[in-house]
Amino acid sequence: MNKILVLDFGGQYNQLIARRIRDMHVYAEIESYRSMTVEMIRERAYKGIVFTGGPNSVYEDGAPGFDPAVLDLDIPVLGICYGAQLIAYMSGGKVQKSEQSSEYGKTTLYTEPDALFKGMPETSICWMSHTDYISELPDDYLRTAYTVQCPYAGIRHKEKKIYAIQFHPEVTHTEYGKQIFRNFLFDICGCAPDWTMDDFIDRSVEQYRNELRDKNVLLALSGGVDSAVTAVLLHRAVGDHLTCVFVDHGLLRKGEAEEVENTFRNTFGMNLIRVDARDRFLTRLAGVTDPELKRKIIGEEFIRTFETEAHLLGKMHVLAQGTIYPDIVESGKGDSAVIKSHHNVGGLPSVIAFERIVEPLRYLFKDEVREVGIKLGLPTDLVYRQPFPGPGLAVRIIGEITREKLELLQEADAILREEIKNSMRKAPDQYFAALTNTRSVGVMGDARTYGYTIALRAVETDDFMTAEWTRIPWECLAVISNRITNEVHGVSRVVYDITSKPPGTVEWE
Ligand code: XMP
Repeated sequence: MNKILVLDFGGQYNQLIARRIRDMHVYAEIESYRSMTVEMIRERAYKGIVFTGGPNSVYEDGAPGFDPAVLDLDIPVLGICYGAQLIAYMSGGKVQKSEQSSEYGKTTLYTEPDALFKGMPETSICWMSHTDYISELPDDYLRTAYTVQCPYAGIRHKEKKIYAIQFHPEVTHTEYGKQIFRNFLFDICGCAPDWTMDDFIDRSVEQYRNELRDKNVLLALSGGVDSAVTAVLLHRAVGDHLTCVFVDHGLLRKGEAEEVENTFRNTFGMNLIRVDARDRFLTRLAGVTDPELKRKIIGEEFIRTFETEAHLLGKMHVLAQGTIYPDIVESGKGDSAVIKSHHNVGGLPSVIAFERIVEPLRYLFKDEVREVGIKLGLPTDLVYRQPFPGPGLAVRIIGEITREKLELLQEADAILREEIKNSMRKAPDQYFAALTNTRSVGVMGDARTYGYTIALRAVETDDFMTAEWTRIPWECLAVISNRITNEVHGVSRVVYDITSKPPGTVEWE
């Protein structure tokens, strides 16, 4: 399989670079410049290397750098932003801090004929974000592009396949960004587009079938996409040797626990143990109102429940986890020391002795995980499910959690989901009901009521770090409000949360 190394110098768009490359069906992996050596690069037989951007200046003390021998490996290199400056600096050119202001945002780019810019017009729009710039060309390099503020927005080696660009082709604002990656991957590196999810499935099934022969594998199924896809993939490989434990803590949305059971036990015929831990969780949560304490109790109780089940099952050799690539990259920028301490199910491996942990999705981005899920036959609703917090409805019930409040919230939330599905062509990125701790006076028929207030929440977001509240059509809000107050006994008021993030968070707790 063709592989591209994305050598990470700490820039904010580094995952995006790997995703752009994978979108073109070429496998790309992100590794920190700290954990790579020239020997490792040679051994892994990469077809090309991308030096990413980064927050430093090349001439700072301790600034990220790399062994210049990498430029003599006869592997094509593309430097982006800081990576471009580093190539210039390593090759004897000069990098300087701009005396004017930083160049930031959309900028007109002037390109000269070059393999990297094949198929691009002489002028186009690119995305810039830098203060330093290449001020003097290294020997043996040519200029290939410039902007008004940046004399060397693109350079390349006269003979070797070493290219450097100051702007960001991975950002959609760069008009011909995809074309630049295409040119680099297919013309310059000579890659074949051989990274497909069908191949990934075949390879993984084959690999785990061999490696896990006669081993018993245990997986904690949460109902989320990652653990669901892990389960189905491993089930293909080891069949009945896989046991999934689904801890039903009673804090899931209406119908969700039944759906998980139905999908995995009945449709896929897996060994599924549904642990009814509802009383156990509710008892531990009784009287608890502090949000962080709720999270802590749920996390701990989850581990204890899982442990008990694992012991009852007898010898389990392998623990499977639904860790995905962003979990790994974000926890340690591809640094292997950190990868080992990263576990999805907080600390499980240290309390139960397993011979091995497997994480079949550890190299996949979320959209790739979804594609694998669909190809393996998981229901679309499950694969494209909106995110749901691990502590579940506990963080959507303000104040103490009781069975009555849980049931009330599940009903209200089910109505919201149903109406959004019925009336909005594109559902918000996340939407749910929360139960506030406020009761208010209402009137029903001739009688006075004193019921709870339900808050509706819906947001638009790319990354959940920031979010904008969704403009749900008023007609839809009206139907939801009507139905909740009529159908959910104990609710006398419905409000719509119009707070964005920041200053609010998506969840209420
Ligand atoms: P906030 O509320 O921080 O949420 O704006 C951002 C995203 O994270 C989810 N979330 C959680 N997920 N455990 C999780 O697994 C949690 O404790 C948790 N808290 C928030 C939230 O649903 C949203 O998608």
